Amino acid sequence: MNTANENMGGRYRSFVKMGAFLKEYRSRALDEFKRDSRPAIKLTTIEVLVVVTTILHYHTKLGARHFHVFYQGLYFLPVILSGFWFGLKGGLITSVTITLLYTPFTIMHWNGFSSSDLTNLMEMVLYNSVASMLGIMRDREQAKHKQLVESERLAAMGSAVSCLAHDMKTPLIAIGGFARLVQKQVSRECHCDPSPYVEKLDIVVKETQRLENMVKDMLDFARPLELNRAMEDVGNLIKGSLLVAEGEARKRGVILHVPSDSAFPLVPLDAVRMEQVLINLVTNAIQASPEGSTVAVDARAEGSRLIIDVSDNGCGIPVEKREEVFRPFVSMKKEGTGLGLPIVKKIVEAHEGRVEILDNSGGGITFRLLIPMK
Ligand SMILES: Nc1ncnc2c1ncn2[C@@H]1O[C@H](COP(=O)(O)OP(=O)(O)O)[C@@H](O)[C@H]1O
Ligand SMILES: [Mg+2]
Repeated sequence: MNTANENMGGRYRSFVKMGAFLKEYRSRALDEFKRDSRPAIKLTTIEVLVVVTTILHYHTKLGARHFHVFYQGLYFLPVILSGFWFGLKGGLITSVTITLLYTPFTIMHWNGFSSSDLTNLMEMVLYNSVASMLGIMRDREQAKHKQLVESERLAAMGSAVSCLAHDMKTPLIAIGGFARLVQKQVSRECHCDPSPYVEKLDIVVKETQRLENMVKDMLDFARPLELNRAMEDVGNLIKGSLLVAEGEARKRGVILHVPSDSAFPLVPLDAVRMEQVLINLVTNAIQASPEGSTVAVDARAEGSRLIIDVSDNGCGIPVEKREEVFRPFVSMKKEGTGLGLPIVKKIVEAHEGRVEILDNSGGGITFRLLIPMK
């Protein structure tokens, strides 16, 4: 009697533990799938179907074989729904849960590898296969859809930006030019103290220059990319971009590490565009770095790919922001345009390459460009 009570107590504790685990798991799943529409309703539907089908299995006599066949078919419903709604991960979680719930039933009624045992085993294999296939298909479909929406969004934004930039370009050049002219004439011809006027005009010139740079970035981002590829020495590209960024580095007290004169590969690249990529990355790295730290650029060939690393010891980018910083107009800087990284991405992808962000062991990050050398 005592042993029976202990067994009941043990079983009850296991159920409580399992309940707590499922509760925790459920809240994590809800967090993960919160981008889906109505995830709570979907999750509850799947849970109810799994639980009800399992209870029906365990509470129906083994002799009523046709009922069990029906319940086995019923298990496909939550498997299909979770693969369809939540992708590979969701589908597999459901199919594995069903396998775990159904295994004791199969063991309890094991009949020495009879045909029904074999059917039960096959059903479990099928749940997992269906979940995997459906999940993979839905994940692929979703990735394609996301890519399509993103490219449509970028195209719409590109044409709006292009119109705006073109309209801004001419008046800005006129304002900047006249301001410089007036500044010169005031300092030359003014009989009074010209410094207050010159200072104010200096602000006009600087601000116009900033707007001109912004317009240039906007046009670079919006303009359709036609690459002009030729076999380029990557070392020269790196040195050229570091030369352009030297002024910014000096201003901020950051040391630029020029790669040693080792032989760099010759790669088919659009030199002007790739130099722009490197200038954008090095400028960002300098702006993120504390005074006295180093920004380094290095390149190497790895298999059939060219790898270029731009590393710094700066503030880094939190993991959850690493996708966002490649979106246009996302900037954490007071005077940033948020177009540097979208331009980098656009040019690298036009070279059929990709950009990765890696953490440096001593703090800061590395922007890694991976470009095929075909
Ligand atoms: N090397 C880096 N270290 C830390 N943050 C960076 C680095 N590079 C880019 N970022 C972040 O990404 C944002 C977007 O960069 P970017 O597209 O070049 O626009 P902008 O430089 O005009 O802000 C920056 O505002 C900055 O917060
Ligand atoms: Mg930038």
